Amino acid sequence: MKRLLITGASGFLGWNISRIAKSDWTVFGTSFYHTLPIQDVSLMTVDLTLLRDLKRLFDDVKPDAVIHTAAMTDPNLCQQNRTLSHNINTKVPINIAGLCSGLDIPCLFTSSDLVFDGLTPPYSEDDEPSPISFYGEQKAMAEAGMKDRYPSTVICRMPLMFGDPGPMATSFIQLMLRAIQSGKTIDLFTDEFRTPVSGRDAAKGLLMVLNIRPGMIHLGGSERISRYEFGKLLCESLGLSNARLNPCRQQDLKMSAPRPPDVSLDSTRARALGFNPKSLKEEMEALRE
Ligand SMILES: NC(=O)c1ccc[n+]([C@@H]2O[C@H](COP(=O)([O-])OP(=O)(O)OC[C@H]3O[C@@H](n4cnc5c(N)ncnc54)[C@H](OP(=O)(O)O)[C@@H]3O)[C@@H](O)[C@H]2O)c1
Repeated sequence: MKRLLITGASGFLGWNISRIAKSDWTVFGTSFYHTLPIQDVSLMTVDLTLLRDLKRLFDDVKPDAVIHTAAMTDPNLCQQNRTLSHNINTKVPINIAGLCSGLDIPCLFTSSDLVFDGLTPPYSEDDEPSPISFYGEQKAMAEAGMKDRYPSTVICRMPLMFGDPGPMATSFIQLMLRAIQSGKTIDLFTDEFRTPVSGRDAAKGLLMVLNIRPGMIHLGGSERISRYEFGKLLCESLGLSNARLNPCRQQDLKMSAPRPPDVSLDSTRARALGFNPKSLKEEMEALRE
C-alpha cells in the first residue's frame, strides 16, 4: 500500500482521518505533546516548526501523499500568541508544500471557514478571503503561500467540526458535555452561524478529495445553524433534558479573537464530487453509540 503522512494525527481531525485511511494506505502520523498510540498507525513525535526535523520526517517516511492538519486551532490562543501561531499555522504549511513539490506528491491542507469575515454568506470557493482574526489571517496566508510554492496543493476549507475526538484530542462538544454534566450553564450564541460537519464525514470527504485533487474546495455540512440551535439539537439528540443553555449574543461575551457572524460554506462543488455529509441529528445520535 502507498504511504500517507498525516500531520496532527493526535488531533481531532487527524485522528478521524487516520482511522479511516488505514484501510487503503499505510498511515504515518505525527503528534507533538500527545503520544498515545493509534492502532495501525506509525506515530512520530515531531515539532513541525523545526525545519530540520520536518525534513527528516519526510526523509524517514518517504510519503506518497501528505494531509497536513497540524495547527494551533484555538483562535483566541492565536490572537494572544501571534508569532508562535504564525509559525505553525503559516510557515509550516508553506514548508510542507515545498517538500511535497520537491517529491511531486499530492499535498492536502485543511484550512478554515474563518478565512472569511462572515458578512456575506454563504461563501463559495470563488470568494476572496477576508479574515478578521489572526487565526483566519494565518490560514489565508498559508493557502496563498502553499499555492505559490506548489500550485497543485489541494486546499480544503473546513467548517466547525464535532464528533468522536479519539483518545488525545477534544472537540467543542466534549467541552459542552462536560459542562452540562457538572451542572453549569452554557452560554451559546444565537447570532453566530456555521455549517458544521462531523469529524467522520470530514475525514471521508478529505480522503475522497485527496484522490480527485480539485484545487480549492469547501467541505461544509448539510445545515446552516447557530451555536445555540446546535447546542439544543445536541442535547435533544443525547436526551440531556437537564442541560442549561443560555441563548446570548456575540457581543455579550468578551473574547480575544473577533468572531465572524456567519461563515456558512457553500459546498456545491464538493456535493457534485460526491461529498454528502449526514444530517446533524443523525451524527449527533451516533455519538450515543
Ligand atoms: N476543529 C474544527 O472545528 C476546525 C474547523 C476548521 C478548520 N480546522 C482545521 O482543521 C485542522 C485540524 O483541526 P483539529 O481540530 O483536528 O485540531 P486539534 O485537535 O487542535 O489538533 C491539532 C494538531 O496539531 C498538532 N500540533 C500543534 N502544534 C504542533 C507543532 N508545533 N508541531 C507538530 N504538531 C503540532 C497537535 O499535536 P498534539 O496534540 O500532539 O500536541 C494536534 O495533533 C487544523 O488545520 C484546523 O485549523 C478545524
